[in-house]
Amino acid sequence: MKKEILTKEPPVDLRLMEEELSSYDRKITSGDLIALLQETQDAYGYLPREALEYMSENTSIPMARIFGVASFYSQFSFIPKGKFTIKVCLGTACHVRGAAAVMEELEHNLNVKEGDTTKDLKFTLQSVACVGTCALGPIVVVGSSVKGGGASCCDSPLGQKVALGDKFYGQVAPEKIEEILDNYREA
Ligand code: FES
Repeated sequence: MKKEILTKEPPVDLRLMEEELSSYDRKITSGDLIALLQETQDAYGYLPREALEYMSENTSIPMARIFGVASFYSQFSFIPKGKFTIKVCLGTACHVRGAAAVMEELEHNLNVKEGDTTKDLKFTLQSVACVGTCALGPIVVVGSSVKGGGASCCDSPLGQKVALGDKFYGQVAPEKIEEILDNYREA
């Protein structure tokens, strides 16, 4: 499906791009593009148009090439993410313990569907496959969507990539959702 760049985006701090590009002590070329896009998405939680334009203006990579590559790979998003990403494990063990009802309660409480971001850009709701702590299911993982809130990754016991700053909630029942969200609403 064709991705779209939003015409209205939250303010973009280009100092993050300046920092990113200055970490290269050589000429930046198209061969660096995937890494650059990953770093940009880590920094902002998505790929802002202004950041991509800044990248093009300050490297030898044409905007059409940047946009073409970013559109090709599903890991990249042009849509702003919430400050916090909430992931509900829908792996088999969590599913049999009621993960679908937990997801439903989150969708209802946040007034979004899975994959969407709340209008105030506070939360993005996602599903995730097994995160390796099946005995404690259903599992909900809450983490920051941008750099500084858990950007570094490690492998969970079953190989799923998780961010070091993520908080795992186990044996989550739909009734616990309000309490979990309260920990982040004022943050
Ligand atoms: S199925 Fe959810 S942690 Fe394994």
